[in-house]
Amino acid sequence: MNRADFFLAQLDEDSPVKDYIRELWALSLDKLKSMADDACKNTYGDEVYLRGLIEYTNVCRMDCLYCGIRKSNDKVNRYRLDEDSILAAVEEGYGRGFRTFVLQGGEDPEWPAERLARLVAKIKELCNYEVAVTLSSGLMTKDDYVILRDAGADRYLMRFETADSKLHERLRGGISLRRRIQALLDMRDAGFELGSGFMCGLPGEDDEVMLKNLYLCKLLELDMIGIGPFIPHPDTPLKDAPQLGLERTLKAEAILRIILPGANLPATTAAGSLQPDGRERMLECGANVLMPNLTPVIHKKDYLLYPGKICLDEDGFKCVSCLSLRVASVGKKIVWDIGTSKNYKERN
Ligand code: 5AD
Ligand code: FES
Repeated sequence: MNRADFFLAQLDEDSPVKDYIRELWALSLDKLKSMADDACKNTYGDEVYLRGLIEYTNVCRMDCLYCGIRKSNDKVNRYRLDEDSILAAVEEGYGRGFRTFVLQGGEDPEWPAERLARLVAKIKELCNYEVAVTLSSGLMTKDDYVILRDAGADRYLMRFETADSKLHERLRGGISLRRRIQALLDMRDAGFELGSGFMCGLPGEDDEVMLKNLYLCKLLELDMIGIGPFIPHPDTPLKDAPQLGLERTLKAEAILRIILPGANLPATTAAGSLQPDGRERMLECGANVLMPNLTPVIHKKDYLLYPGKICLDEDGFKCVSCLSLRVASVGKKIVWDIGTSKNYKERN
């Protein structure tokens, strides 16, 4: 059996781990929060890692029903940063102490793997090989991932979005969950520190789907897991979908920390956009990473995957001082470490 098929088959089967996740899901948020906080303190203490996020292109060939920059949304003002602007943002970030940069973009045909690879090599050189580069550029071939890894990219992030095959195919223009899982396995084979995750509260996601989301993260033994609330975007087919509260996301975050204590878990911008203290609440439920947005301010408003995104008018470096206070308010502190996940370190 092909490996992706093996994961899909396991997802549907009962197992002690799945039963454990089901038991956790039945607990109260307060209980989960205290269990997750203990687990987080054991692995990461009170430290919170920072990542400099650069949204380098909002051009996307995909048409996912939930996403504000989907191909069919012709209200989007499309932009692409060129190499010089990306390197300028990296240089400034490096000077201010950032040791990880995340390049995130749509699936943009003008940014094939070879071009991205050249950029990654330049970033590593510019930063004296002291930084980690994370790519979040979507689905590519196995060979593409090898090219990127050989160029020096360290980590790759690609959420599976939902672990329900039917829902995945419906929301993602016919692309199968199997293909998404295959790509994640290809990334791991290429040697990447592997990140994925899902949205919480997608229309059609019941508790069984949520259990599968959590279980898939565990089956993949992910190094990094980004989750956040689904927020309906008015210019997408899901505009009338209901907005669920943050509690679902917080419970999921806490369970992830309990079942994958060594993973890096960001307190995501979507959580902070849904609720003013959303990121702090995620830090209390086991999150240990924050990703200030270093994209040039003139373009930030054009990278709207969902409405109400915070910090659009802020210079990313201003966010750092704001974030220090927020982190301190929950008894944690920011560290400027490269912040490799404990999971990955143990495997390698
Ligand atoms: N609400 C919340 N998150 C979204 N994403 C895309 N669209 C939305 C939305 N409407 C998430 C997806 C994607 C990540 C970059 O942003 O999970 O992988
Ligand atoms: Fe951006 Fe507070 S984190 S302004």
